[in-house]
Amino acid sequence: MRFGHFDDAAREYVIETPRTPYPWINYLGTEEFFGLVSHTGGGYCFYRDARLRRLTRYRYNNVPTDVGGRYYYLNDGGDYWTPGWAPVKRELDRYECRVGLSYTKITGERKGLRAEVLYFVPLGTTAEVHRVTLTNLSPAKKIVKLFSFVEFCLWDASDDQTNYQRNLSIGEVEVDGSTIYHKTEYRERRDHYAVWSVNAPVDGFDTDRESFVGLWNGFGEPQAVVEGRSRNSVASGWSPIGSHQIVAELAPGEARTLVFVLGYVENPKDDKWERPGVVNKAPARRLLERFRTSEQVDEALAALRDYWTGMLSTYTVRSGDERLDRMVNVWNPYQCMVTFNMSRSASYFETGIGRGMGFRDSNQDLMGFVHLVPARARERLLDTAATQKPDGSAYHQYQPLTKRGNNDVGSGFNDDPLWLISATAAYVKESGDFGILRETVPFDNDPKDAAPLFEHLKRSFHHVLHNLGPHGLPLIGRADWNDCLNLNCFSDTPGESFQTTGNRTGRTAESVFIAGLFVHVAPDYAALAEAAGFPEEAKAAREHAKRMEATVLEHGWDGEWFLRAYDFFGKKVGSKECEDGQILIEPQGYCVMAGIGLASGHAKKALDSVRDRLETDHGIVLNQPAYKEYHLELGEISSYPPGYKENAGIFCHNNPWVMIAETVIGRGDRAFALWKKIAPAYREDISDLHRLEPYVYAQMIAGRDAVRHGEAKNSWLTGTAAWNFVAISQHILGVKPELDGLRVSPCIGREVASFTLVRRCRGAEYRICVRNAGAGSKPVRLTVDGRPIEGTLVPYAPAGATVSVTCEA
Ligand code: BGC
Ligand code: NOJ
Repeated sequence: MRFGHFDDAAREYVIETPRTPYPWINYLGTEEFFGLVSHTGGGYCFYRDARLRRLTRYRYNNVPTDVGGRYYYLNDGGDYWTPGWAPVKRELDRYECRVGLSYTKITGERKGLRAEVLYFVPLGTTAEVHRVTLTNLSPAKKIVKLFSFVEFCLWDASDDQTNYQRNLSIGEVEVDGSTIYHKTEYRERRDHYAVWSVNAPVDGFDTDRESFVGLWNGFGEPQAVVEGRSRNSVASGWSPIGSHQIVAELAPGEARTLVFVLGYVENPKDDKWERPGVVNKAPARRLLERFRTSEQVDEALAALRDYWTGMLSTYTVRSGDERLDRMVNVWNPYQCMVTFNMSRSASYFETGIGRGMGFRDSNQDLMGFVHLVPARARERLLDTAATQKPDGSAYHQYQPLTKRGNNDVGSGFNDDPLWLISATAAYVKESGDFGILRETVPFDNDPKDAAPLFEHLKRSFHHVLHNLGPHGLPLIGRADWNDCLNLNCFSDTPGESFQTTGNRTGRTAESVFIAGLFVHVAPDYAALAEAAGFPEEAKAAREHAKRMEATVLEHGWDGEWFLRAYDFFGKKVGSKECEDGQILIEPQGYCVMAGIGLASGHAKKALDSVRDRLETDHGIVLNQPAYKEYHLELGEISSYPPGYKENAGIFCHNNPWVMIAETVIGRGDRAFALWKKIAPAYREDISDLHRLEPYVYAQMIAGRDAVRHGEAKNSWLTGTAAWNFVAISQHILGVKPELDGLRVSPCIGREVASFTLVRRCRGAEYRICVRNAGAGSKPVRLTVDGRPIEGTLVPYAPAGATVSVTCEA
């Protein structure tokens, strides 16, 4: 069952009913100011840091779900309602929510009145702009009262929800005409405030929550709205809010447009006050000047559209399969940009107060957005590299505001360093910027201990070699990609974090996954070493990779598939000898991606085992059989009920590794089929089961052991976005930048007979026409500007050139 449809021409998903199976959200903002907005107008906004600079309040896991947002209430002759249906939940004659690229437009109609609310953050602006259009569709004159509403957060979102003994006494505002200033803590150490304004005279206002809502009322029945009467309240402590009241007289057919601005303003420390106790409003006024008229809003919206059009034109496909095209051209890259901006901070599953930036997450996310914003990717890469420690290990997380490694979580996740190599390789391939390898980057943010970026990669690579276990496989440390495979943790205390609990210091638990990752990054590492002028290091790296491959085949093979690990006691994990967890997905995907066991047939066997044992209608589960009970020696993986998360859930992040692996052995049909199982646009028809947004990936879909098999959780902020984009764009459609040319080597199977693709890279444009017989392992034939070439590498053309490529696959 669907709850809307894709409007491809507009690059929008159109939600047709407010009764979606879960709040379906969108993100506003592209640079510094961000908002989350659900299809009913729920959500919140913040400046740069979702925890420390939150403008509006949001209560997670609330009852009913998703209350709290930027609301517009209407009182039409006593009949009060909200255009997004919630929170008032009055039946609408028509409802629509258009989820666009960094904007959302909600339209509601009731009894001859239409209210449309457009939400977005203009480029270069630290504010949300809301354009509200009221239209009288009835044959009679209407007098409509409109009430805006936001509830302010007292800036630190964590403190805001915990420290009531202080917070209920500190709230402060100023009201100046149509503008409300939220200035809690501005009198002391803050030099920022929030501004909330409308471009018209107001007929009333409120800034005190109790006065507007009523102590015993909910957001569905604020007393000011019900009675059609603002209290003109000025908050003093308790909970500051912002509400404007506007009375609109509308002749039949008449429309009235209002522009609301909700912004973040900072003042210089020595220029905070206009006069004692009155905030300096000059920068706020300059901000408001930019959005006085509907035309200014149109221009800002057009600029935002152009921004996206420019970015998305980097990779576009036309295949005849509209679901494939919309995923590749619009929604998957859009989600990749959201993960770039948010990392894992703020979604409807991440509260914005918890996790910092993950080292491995940031590096993997980069692979999904590097082609869209190479310059910003460069910056991210250098920031991330600066949190590496001198011994090559890495802080598992760092804080976005300070960019410092997070000591609470520490290091010891032994896969982390290797992802820096993959990310750097992806960046250099995309940009041709070999110079970054010479860029000086500190270790642990200590300027006294700095070295060229290449040296960081070297320490990453050698960190693995310095930390090998009894079988010659890499030691796992706290965990590898699977945060929940905690082989040294042995936690038996409720509530302890599996990620940070003191580990046993044994040097026995080994990871076959890290071995696969090591072999996979080795060729890129070697090529970068050559480019950086270290041919001997390159040669040595290739030797190390060969040895590791042999080790994997000797000690990391279980007969029908790759083993997952050896535990603290040297016992096998992910083996037919185990009772539960006999096979795990990660090493099957990564070892084959690395080319391990291709010639010997191990690779194919491993992927056949994945198909036979792990694949379901909704994607590939992480392990089978699911762990039925808690294993002290395995950690968090066995803490989840069977079928959820890392215990046999469909972890959408690692499914693409198997897709890519299938292309490595030439099985395009399989790769494409697996991709379609989890791609949200293909799951749209089962939205009632899937429950989450049909336009973005979720981290997890419940596996076959779960009661709710097929139900997704944790949409938006997941490495799933980047990896699925890599799988479909670089391996299945098969256009991938390499260091010395654009690889064109599709492997999509028989279903898509032909497609055309435009790829912009390093300033040139490649127009690629593919005729696809789905031959899989047979070599493809290419022509470049009419001339046949050997192999699959199209040499890079100078910036400004247009290259035409044909491909028979
Ligand atoms: C989750 C993982 C996550 C880890 C670290 C675990 O509870 O299942 O997916 O990576 O926490 O935050
Ligand atoms: C989520 C984390 O963000 C990611 O880094 C990890 O690899 C997966 N969980 C799997 O545990």
